[in-house]
Amino acid sequence: MNQYLYDAIYKRKSIRKYKNESVSDEILSSIEEKIKNIKPLFNDCHLQMHIVRDGEKLDTQMKGLLKKITKVKAPHYLVVTSHESDHYLINAGYMVEKLVLEMTALNIGTCWQGGPVKDEVIQKFLGLPKAQKMVILVSFGYTNADHKTEYKRKDLEDLIIGKQDEEWKLILEAARLSPSSINSQPWRFIFNKNKIHVYKKPPKNFIMKKLIGDLNKIDIGIALSHIEIASLKVGKRIKFIHEDLKSIDNMEYMISIIEEK
Ligand SMILES: Cc1cc2nc3c(=O)[nH]c(=O)nc-3n(C[C@H](O)[C@H](O)[C@H](O)COP(=O)(O)O)c2cc1C
Repeated sequence: MNQYLYDAIYKRKSIRKYKNESVSDEILSSIEEKIKNIKPLFNDCHLQMHIVRDGEKLDTQMKGLLKKITKVKAPHYLVVTSHESDHYLINAGYMVEKLVLEMTALNIGTCWQGGPVKDEVIQKFLGLPKAQKMVILVSFGYTNADHKTEYKRKDLEDLIIGKQDEEWKLILEAARLSPSSINSQPWRFIFNKNKIHVYKKPPKNFIMKKLIGDLNKIDIGIALSHIEIASLKVGKRIKFIHEDLKSIDNMEYMISIIEEK
């Protein structure tokens, strides 16, 4: 039963201030165990999640202005690396959000960190092969923050095109609450017969495209993990498939959802 993960969707919020104390060894080990059980959306990405227990050690490796602006200082980090296969960013969002929700359920605060970190820095720091490219960081630690009470999100009607029923509205409500880079909420859902096609709305301009174009694909993967968890909760069996669809109105096709009867 995944009720606790569904509840975590409603509880999670980005935490940018952590208690100045380490998470217990017991909890860190249980997080490492959970990582082993998270299944990929695409098998050929070879995604790895690395827990950095000594966050300060990693902090000293990261330089640059953008890094300073975007990065939250935390006692620990999750470093995500992957092969750059097709769909590796969607795969990363999908897998890592599952862990973020597991940590939320354990009362551990998290924040996705999209600032750039050089491949070579991380490969050297963690002793990784060249094929393992840096994807994203998640900061985490104990927090004093309360549960989420308000959401700054677009309305569901602005995200959906086509006819949908109450059950699907409930499922997509969970997607609506997903975290996204600078809260850009790029996911759009087009209902077509027995399928829902997921599209990515483009960033507003060239600069935003440079900053969050790739991160928005991670955002899509995050929303897919929320959709899967909410579908299980309402007893719907779904499958994600990649079809050969073109962009619509400048929106890039990402993936489709099919309900298994
Ligand atoms: C891929 C991704 C990258 C993000 N990068 C950063 C970041 O660099 N710094 C930061 O403070 N928050 C970052 N965030 C957090 C978002 O700003 C946050 O999810 C969004 O504003 C919604 O707020 P909430 O997570 O509290 O619901 C990122 C989120 C995602 C999904």
